[in-house]
Amino acid sequence: MTRSGPVPHAVLLTGATGSLGSRVCARLLDEAAVVYCLVRARDQQEAAARLTTRLEQEGLTAEAHRGRLHPVPGDVTRPLLGLHPRAYDALAQSVHLIVHCAATVNLAAGYEQLAPVNVDGTRAVTAFAGRAADLTGRHPHLSAVSTLGVLLDARTAGHPVVDEDTPATPETAGPLGYPRSKAEAERELRAAAARGARVTLLRPGIVTGDTPFETDLLRPLLRAAVALGAAPDTPVSVPADTADTVSRAVAVLAVRPESAGHTFHLVRPRPLLLPDLFDAARRTGHPLTPLPADRWWKALEAHADHPDVREVLMLQGVYSYTIPEGPGTARCAPDIRSDRTWAVLTDAGLHPPDIDAPYLDRLVTSLLDRGSCHTV
Ligand SMILES: NC(=O)c1ccc[n+]([C@@H]2O[C@H](COP(=O)([O-])OP(=O)(O)OC[C@H]3O[C@@H](n4cnc5c(N)ncnc54)[C@H](OP(=O)(O)O)[C@@H]3O)[C@@H](O)[C@H]2O)c1
Repeated sequence: MTRSGPVPHAVLLTGATGSLGSRVCARLLDEAAVVYCLVRARDQQEAAARLTTRLEQEGLTAEAHRGRLHPVPGDVTRPLLGLHPRAYDALAQSVHLIVHCAATVNLAAGYEQLAPVNVDGTRAVTAFAGRAADLTGRHPHLSAVSTLGVLLDARTAGHPVVDEDTPATPETAGPLGYPRSKAEAERELRAAAARGARVTLLRPGIVTGDTPFETDLLRPLLRAAVALGAAPDTPVSVPADTADTVSRAVAVLAVRPESAGHTFHLVRPRPLLLPDLFDAARRTGHPLTPLPADRWWKALEAHADHPDVREVLMLQGVYSYTIPEGPGTARCAPDIRSDRTWAVLTDAGLHPPDIDAPYLDRLVTSLLDRGSCHTV
C-alpha cells in the first residue's frame, strides 16, 4: 500500500500503550511526520520507557522512529489531560490530527466504573480539539476509536441491520456497561462536531488475528469450547477483523481529511463464521462435540470452576448476543454492514486478508497458544 498526498505533520495519539493503540501508533508513524503520544506516567522518562517497551513488542525499533515519536506524560481523566497549561497550549498549537484510542476496555465492568475514562476522557479530548481550534483558527481532525458494541442491542431497538449511518443511542448499546459508555462517548463526539469539530468515528468489531492480540474476544470462547470438548452447533457469525487490518484502517482513515464527518465500520465485509473456527480447532487436534447452544451454556455452567470456562461465563452477557442461551429468549446482535467503509479502504489500497482454512488453522493455533489448555 502506498500513501498519496502530503504527509500530515503532527498527530496526538492517546492509548498508544494499548493492544490496538500500539499497533495504531506503529502505522501512524508510516503516515505522519511526528506522533505525540499521551502516556500515563509520572514523568517524561517513564512515559518514554513505557512507550518504547510497548512498541518494541510490535517490532518497532527506536531507530525507526527516532526524532518522530514524542511521549507526553498525561492522563485523559485529569484537568488539561494532566499537562501544565503552557504545555497543553503548546501541544494544541502543534497538532493537526488527534487519534483517540485510550479507553477502559472491560466488558464485565459497570458503566460507573468505565465512564471516567470512556466518557469524561473523551469529552476532555474534544475540549483539547476545541482549544486547538481557538488557538490556531483551524480545527484538527479528531478520529475516535469507538466499537461496534455501541450497536450490540440494535436489533432489539428495531434495527436488524446496521450500517455506518446507524446512530449509537442508549437503546442500540443495550444494558451492558462497556457498550453504554462507548455510546455515550460517541454522543460527546457528535456534540463536539455540532460545535464545529471535524470528527471521524471508527468502530471496530472483534479484533483478532494469527498473531497474538491481548484482548481478542475469540480466545476465551475457543478456550472454553476446547476445555469442554464441545462447541455450539449454531451457524452464527461474528463481526471481526485482524488487528493488522484494523490498525492500518485507523491510520489510513485518520490522515484522510475527507473522513471527517463520517463513521466507519472496521470489520470484514463478510463476517467470520464461528463453525469455521470450531472446524479449524478440530483440524488442529481438538475434538469438539457439536451441542445445541442452550445445552452448551448449561454444560459450561456445570464446569464453572474451570478457569477457561469461568472467563466465558463472566462475559456471558456479551457472548450470548452471538450464541443465544435459549430459543426465543435471547437478545441477538444485528447484521452489520461495512460496505461503504470498504469502498473507501479499497480505494486507499487496503484489502482484507483471505480468511481461508490455512489462516483459520493459524488463528486457532495462536488463540490456544498462551498457556496450556486443560479439558474439564
Ligand atoms: N481490543 C478490542 O478488541 C477492541 C475492539 C473494538 C474497539 N476497541 C477500542 O479500541 C480502543 C483501543 O483499545 P485497546 O484494545 O488498545 O485497549 P487496551 O489494550 O486496554 O489499551 C487501553 C489504552 O488506553 C490507555 N488509557 C486508559 N486509561 C487512560 C487514561 N486515564 N489516560 C490516558 N490513557 C489511558 C491505556 O494506558 P495504560 O497503558 O496506562 O493502561 C492503554 O494505552 C479503545 O477505544 C477500545 O474501546 C477495542
